[in-house]
Amino acid sequence: MTRSLTMDRPDDRNRLDAMAQGVIGQPLDRPDGPAKVTGTARYAAEYQIAGCVEGVLVTATISKGDVTAIDEASVLSMPGVIAVISDERMTARAAQGGAGEAPVQQVRQVQYYGQPIAVVVAETFEQARDAAKHLKVTYRADDAAITDPHSAAAPTETYDEPIEQGDLAQAMAQAAHAVDVTYTTEGHNSAAMEPHASIAQWDGQMLTLHASLQMLAYNQKELADSLDLQPEQVRLVSPYVGGGFGSKLGISPEGVAAAVAAMQLNRPVRVVMLRQQVFQCVMRRSETVQRLRLAADAEGRLTGFGHEARVSNLPEEEFAEPVTQASEFLYPGENRRLAIELARVNLMTAGSVRAPGEAVGMQVLESAMDELANAMGLDPVELRLRNIPDRHPSEGIPYSSRKLAECLKAGADRFGWNGADRRPAQRREGEWWIGTGMANACRVHNINEAQASVTLMADGTAIVASDMTDIGTGTYAILGQIAGEMLGLDPTDVLVQLGDTDLPPGSGSGGSWGAASTGSAVFEACEAIREHLAERLGTTEAELTLKDGFATAGNRRVALPELLAGAEVERTGHFKPGEITEAFAAAMYGAFFAEVAVNAYTGEVRVRRFTGAFSMGRVLNAKTATSQCMGGMVWGIGSALTEGLTFDPRDGHIVNPDLAEYHIPVNLDVPHLDVVLVDERDPAGSPLQAKGVGELGICGAAGAINNAIHHACGVRVRSFPMTPDKLL
Ligand code: MOS
Repeated sequence: MTRSLTMDRPDDRNRLDAMAQGVIGQPLDRPDGPAKVTGTARYAAEYQIAGCVEGVLVTATISKGDVTAIDEASVLSMPGVIAVISDERMTARAAQGGAGEAPVQQVRQVQYYGQPIAVVVAETFEQARDAAKHLKVTYRADDAAITDPHSAAAPTETYDEPIEQGDLAQAMAQAAHAVDVTYTTEGHNSAAMEPHASIAQWDGQMLTLHASLQMLAYNQKELADSLDLQPEQVRLVSPYVGGGFGSKLGISPEGVAAAVAAMQLNRPVRVVMLRQQVFQCVMRRSETVQRLRLAADAEGRLTGFGHEARVSNLPEEEFAEPVTQASEFLYPGENRRLAIELARVNLMTAGSVRAPGEAVGMQVLESAMDELANAMGLDPVELRLRNIPDRHPSEGIPYSSRKLAECLKAGADRFGWNGADRRPAQRREGEWWIGTGMANACRVHNINEAQASVTLMADGTAIVASDMTDIGTGTYAILGQIAGEMLGLDPTDVLVQLGDTDLPPGSGSGGSWGAASTGSAVFEACEAIREHLAERLGTTEAELTLKDGFATAGNRRVALPELLAGAEVERTGHFKPGEITEAFAAAMYGAFFAEVAVNAYTGEVRVRRFTGAFSMGRVLNAKTATSQCMGGMVWGIGSALTEGLTFDPRDGHIVNPDLAEYHIPVNLDVPHLDVVLVDERDPAGSPLQAKGVGELGICGAAGAINNAIHHACGVRVRSFPMTPDKLL
């Protein structure tokens, strides 16, 4: 078995603790906060560019077939209309955040209702929207479209290699306690607050796109590839992103449309998606059907573990919601079967939506675990504690850091968990049944290559620069804190510049890897600057102390401007993840505890209290990390109770394509959220000893609510969202 150097010598590459500046980890405010709340932070669509015209996407109204004609003349005489563009380069891209696969949907071949097929450009947005609405499009529809995600007629293939180990059927038959249950979850939409929007400018050589994207270096290659340009001919600018959740991992159709139109018309073109387009033509989280088989011995230790899922995507799309991802290592059970079936349907692209895999995989797994605890009459916390394996159950590798037991205890303490009486329907307040439930949280740790530069200016302030994005997660804050900690600077003396492909390529934001990956590049750049300063001071990096703008070693103490003697020093950190994640099962863990009230007459569910305890390696900023956890828990409430895409099986259009009909939790639906951060360092996680934060808070959250509902009223709902009709 390989061991990574960082784990054998935990402090080898880590000097953050030795800095002892008190900057890293602090709950500092976001430096970008005031600009955002006062409206001066400019988002993609808000740049004022002279001569800019407006494009509106036209989307298909059939779910499968060909576009046989687009009657441009039907709108070209309308006021202000400049052009109708339907170009093969305007392909609808899958947005999975992987290595740039070629797009698979052609603009004239329709694979789903809502697929972009053209863009209408006009002088004003209203003119373009009106023309887009009136554009006459003729189709040859293919009746073989499959527009019901649960259709048994959908062709299905096995995705990836199933994990088969031992004999699960036999383990189930011989188990002291066994659970064999099937749950369903409906599709989800990211619905980021800022819709997908782009402004494209073309000068004959260079394309500049102001856009709302998560992964700029990757998106630059994607867009260049779509347009037959060299990546150097594409500049992406995305300093502020109003939420992504995976929907902006890839370049989206409005960006390609704006670029094609700008190149064709030689004018700047802005394309902003309507909210309904965000829902219908970006991507969805697949609905899932999940069968859980849990076999336990008399003490509740798992001997068999089965997690089999059916998910769907468009024909030829590679992504399959990786529902079993955490199931591979969270629980023991030598007899295992984990498998994913991918059904081919004519519904919008399925792709990564916050915590792809675990978001819906964990909520179902943790509901099934509660069913097992109930079947045994065991405290569900105790069941979780008895099922923390020593080694990865299939691969035999060790876990890097895993404070699951600590999270269970910390969360239970904070919540005031009482696991003694788990009999359902025991507590009633007026017309409300009251219950509590819990669930584990788990999400794999991802890490990505990243570069960032740090410049220590002659005046002793610093600039951090990377094309990294801040999608609302707090990147501006934490990168400044890392540089501040390493260079002994007040974070307000560190200017962080992000979101421009002219800057060194960062990791992008996705898969919860942003902070640990790009943060590690900043860390490495700062180490190099420290070495340079140590050399100037005639000492070693290890002996050097940087604090309050002074460099100190032994009895020498020099102000940074003096030490730099008028010259700035710039270093670029280039973090490469190496093989860390192959030597260890690296993941983030936690535990949720919820109290709900269920109305005995209406089936309405109120989440009354919600606690989450999480361990995620070193926390870089306690405030932004807590906010990420809260955001995940809010989505957990939505996932539990209200969120679900509904497709009209007649044509595959989304019946609830906006925030009026797709119900996300509003303030009154969300109680005070109690987040406990359990202190942890993970030397294998990253040079910062940090792991991912952004997605953990959703992974299992809805399971705790499911379990609390069962405890409250005795109804076990096996289909999410748990709307009132399912409780009566
Ligand atoms: Mo994420 S769903 O990888 O932005």
